Amino acid sequence: MTMKLSILLGAAGVVGAVLLSGAVATMAQPAALSDTAQFDAQGRLIPPTDYRDWVFLSSGIDMSYSEGAAVAPADTHTFDNVFAPRAAYAAFKRDGKWPNGTVLILENRGGVSKGSINKRGAFQSGLPTGMEAHVKDEARFKGGWGFFGGLASGKPAPMIPYAATCYACHQQHAAADTTFVQFYPILLPVATERGTLSAAYLAEIKPEPATPAPHP
Ligand code: HEC
Repeated sequence: MTMKLSILLGAAGVVGAVLLSGAVATMAQPAALSDTAQFDAQGRLIPPTDYRDWVFLSSGIDMSYSEGAAVAPADTHTFDNVFAPRAAYAAFKRDGKWPNGTVLILENRGGVSKGSINKRGAFQSGLPTGMEAHVKDEARFKGGWGFFGGLASGKPAPMIPYAATCYACHQQHAAADTTFVQFYPILLPVATERGTLSAAYLAEIKPEPATPAPHP
């Protein structure tokens, strides 16, 4: 891209301003940099390459959603980092739900505790070990959302079939618009204020009714 641009710019100096404006127009729509979901002709999601420039929602460390899940060996950790495109984030802050075309990225990265001056806790280190996406497109996906995995390879990935556990868990437990905003501390108050928390989530957090006092 840069090389192509500098060649174009070089040519523009010779040929004139018309070509320069053409080069600028080419720059304005780079195919890989996009903040709405991009699909190839087979309907596979093209992994966004610029998600690290998006809005960071939160990190989880060593999260597990099942009771009795295996505990990782000492000093092995997994972080997950969640990102939303800027425009989608602004829309969520306004509406408490995501606009069509939203692609949310969950990136996994390993964590270690030994390194530099660190004495306690763990920090993220190394390249991403996994990347998944949750994409809203009401015309394309049954229920409005599709999941995609294996994106760390950088290659387009097919939609994960609807029978996968991704869909059921997100529908049944995620706080707003099938996304886990209960773990994104800036967005939970937004969804609460906009009244977009799901009925399932509200039922889940409802305090247990007090046990009635035993009959005297
Ligand atoms: C048992 C429940 C459960 C299952 C199954 C599950 N997830 Fe999630 N997912 C979560 C939780 C909890 C979070 C919040 C993570 C955090 O706080 O860092 C999350 C967050 C995400 C996010 C970030 C955006 C969002 O929707 O909040 C993506 C992307 C994602 N999951 C993809 C997947 C994919 C792909 C699958 C299936 C292969 C899957 N998930 C299966 C519980 C689940």
